[in-house]
Amino acid sequence: MLDGTRVALVRIDDDVYAIGDVCSHQDVSLSEGEVLCDERELECWKHGSTFSLIDGSPQALPATKPVPVYGARLVDGQIEVVIGE
Ligand code: FES
Repeated sequence: MLDGTRVALVRIDDDVYAIGDVCSHQDVSLSEGEVLCDERELECWKHGSTFSLIDGSPQALPATKPVPVYGARLVDGQIEVVIGE
């Protein structure tokens, strides 16, 4: 939770991603799902929709709406996330 916003953080090698932690299909935590590294997607554990870590767009049904993504970067081993810009 960052500034009241539920965010899932994903690190793939030296790339970091910050994506809304609530599935757009139901109120389910995406951070409990599986990361698809090659596809750069996060899979919802409940019904299997996957979301792009790049732009939050759904890549598989049943979800049809995107989830928000946020700017994230690695700085001295820490992850910086920008919320609300
Ligand atoms: S709750 Fe995430 S796909 Fe249904």
